[in-house]
Amino acid sequence: MSKQKILALLKQTEGYLSGGEVSRQLGISRAAVWKAIDALRQEGYGIDSGTNRGYRLVSSPDKLTEGEILPHLHTQRVAKPLVVLQTVDSTNNYLKRESQNGLPDGAAVVADQQTGGRGRMGRNFASPAGAGIYYSVLLRPQVPPAQAVNLTAYVAVAVCDGIQAVTGVRPQIKWTNDIVMEGRKVCGILTEMAIEGEINALQYIVTGIGVNVNQGEEDWPQELRAIAGSIAQAVGHPVERGRLAGALLNALDRVYCDWLAGNRQPYLEQYRKDCLTIGQEVKVIRADGEETVATAVGVDDQFALVIRCPDGREETVSSGEVSVRGLYGYV
Ligand code: BTN
Repeated sequence: MSKQKILALLKQTEGYLSGGEVSRQLGISRAAVWKAIDALRQEGYGIDSGTNRGYRLVSSPDKLTEGEILPHLHTQRVAKPLVVLQTVDSTNNYLKRESQNGLPDGAAVVADQQTGGRGRMGRNFASPAGAGIYYSVLLRPQVPPAQAVNLTAYVAVAVCDGIQAVTGVRPQIKWTNDIVMEGRKVCGILTEMAIEGEINALQYIVTGIGVNVNQGEEDWPQELRAIAGSIAQAVGHPVERGRLAGALLNALDRVYCDWLAGNRQPYLEQYRKDCLTIGQEVKVIRADGEETVATAVGVDDQFALVIRCPDGREETVSSGEVSVRGLYGYV
């Protein structure tokens, strides 16, 4: 724990930080400071030191740890508390389990690796170590369940905001909530709700987001190469995951506060701008397996997709799979 705190202090400091100052600020001995510095060096951090000068961070490996995320985090509700894990079955499962122990609204978990990452429609979500960011947030808004249904659309806008803040490039959204860069999916969102059936009351929402950050072409199995991509592949250079995780949580915090306050219009407008599905030919696969080929003509005020069928009828689609012609192998 002191190791991560020392790392956060070094990251906040431009020049050298004396061992005495670290020991005073964290209330630990000089020997404990030295031990933690040694451990950080063994993890790959470049830490310069000199007699009477102290320590200075000169290089960092791309790690997803508390020490790498905290210096970038500026939130009011989200990530209070923040749990950072090196490995977990699924960050959504983790929060669903921990929700029973009174975790508060906004609690977040970030993991470097998931051994049982889950996607929508019962699919797996590949979550290898060292390349992505897998995170979930527990939300306990006091609203009727029906009102929470559109939250995922806001989360999609937040993901685009976070990625844009760090890379300068704004991704697109494939309706409803795949985040796409250069025609390939770089992020998926799985939002789950617990409802107390008898009184139809929302107990909690867990929204889980999986971002492919630094994977290279060779990291994707052949059958996924046309479908899945990473942010690094799209922008042409690796991205610091701690910084991106901070930006993603900051964006989610702002969006969640706006959602709670009923500030809908800017998100609707942004979602419509970001949504690559609008204007495209789409194939809608409904829950009963029935398929319709149509043109997507808009997103309505409830974030549902409006499609025009070949006979000229307009319909709204609020759930199900929608493939876009020319994208992800739908030709
Ligand atoms: C999808 O596109 O099918 C949704 C993928 C959602 C993956 C994220 S990773 C973090 C969180 N934990 C999970 O097990 N799933 C979500």
